[in-house]
Amino acid sequence: MKVTLSIIKADVGGYVGHSDVHPALLARTDEALAEAKEKGLIIDYCRAKCGDDIALIMTHTKGTDNEDIHHFAWDTFEAVTEVAKEYGQYGAGQDLLTDAFSGNLRGMGPGFAEMEIEERKSEPIICFLADKTEPGSWNYPLFKMFADPFNTAGLVIDPSMHDGFRFEVHDLIEEKKIIFSCPEELYDMLVFIGAPSRYVIKHIFPKGKDEPAAVTSTQRLFLMAGRYVGKDDPVMAVRCQSGLPAVGEVVEPFSFPYIVAGWMRGSHHGPLMPVGMQQDTPTRFDGPPRVVSLGFQLKDGRLIGPRDMFADPSYDLARWKALEMAEFLRRHGPFEPHRLPLDEMEYTTLPAVMEKLHERFVPLVGDERDF
Ligand code: F6R
Ligand code: MG
Ligand code: MG
Repeated sequence: MKVTLSIIKADVGGYVGHSDVHPALLARTDEALAEAKEKGLIIDYCRAKCGDDIALIMTHTKGTDNEDIHHFAWDTFEAVTEVAKEYGQYGAGQDLLTDAFSGNLRGMGPGFAEMEIEERKSEPIICFLADKTEPGSWNYPLFKMFADPFNTAGLVIDPSMHDGFRFEVHDLIEEKKIIFSCPEELYDMLVFIGAPSRYVIKHIFPKGKDEPAAVTSTQRLFLMAGRYVGKDDPVMAVRCQSGLPAVGEVVEPFSFPYIVAGWMRGSHHGPLMPVGMQQDTPTRFDGPPRVVSLGFQLKDGRLIGPRDMFADPSYDLARWKALEMAEFLRRHGPFEPHRLPLDEMEYTTLPAVMEKLHERFVPLVGDERDF
């Protein structure tokens, strides 16, 4: 049976500030999802969240980029925005960039990661949701899962993984894509995915198959809206086991709280902290950035789960390390490398401040004015 998994997410109002989602908004989301299931639009769902972002995790048989599914998500986020307004939530409707839905969510604000798959006899899938960071943040863990034998023992031990995987990488600035075949082209690929603000892994495919093993959301709000609307708080789904990385290999990269761009005002580097679903609320300096992971077994399209994968003591050390790294970076205040380099600050509100001072810059040579 072919099943489509769609994760569609948006920030339509924060509680308090940009730290969490009010229960009233979650209740309205639940209502909409239950109705969609009742009507047969979707097979199953799990309403999830990370920080101020709501995620609709849904299964259905309509394929990716489906108008009905995208329209439903849009209508749901609009309905939830109404509740956000009623409760005076911060940034109500912030990710809904256009007035009306038009065919597809592309360019409209909400992020989405979707895959259509032939459900295996047993189909373990992990959905990752992050807050206060950007889509390229998945590059590092995806590389570790599908290309690094120090992370994924299966790349060495399991003959069905020896051939490696194909990585589809998007250039978000020039809107182009390329497929790298790994391990042969590992070094070529790293040239690009090591720059995650521009190049992001969109899909990973087992060699010789068209069905993805992993998919990410790649929407960048700034590039859609032409103005700063916050970072893009990405989601991804990864299939596991039986010729793919095992569940433990898929969550292993997050034992290292690697540095990502985002955090306060989408303008700072900080550690990505893996947390349980009860701890998904970025607080200190609007952060640090964090990631939750929801494990499911798919059965006839039903989402059996979620299992809260990072609510486990084996991630305590990663959390402590993240806090130490957060403390260390915070001491730099407005200095790089805590603050992002200038070219990335172009996507924030800083250029408006710089513009104001533009006229006051005079040439170093040939200026006789007395200061
Ligand atoms: C980062 C984020 C927050 C806000 C910050 C300022 O993605 O959402 O850190 O950027 O709280 O928010 P405004 O400009 O809305 O006051
Ligand atoms: Mg927000
Ligand atoms: Mg957010």
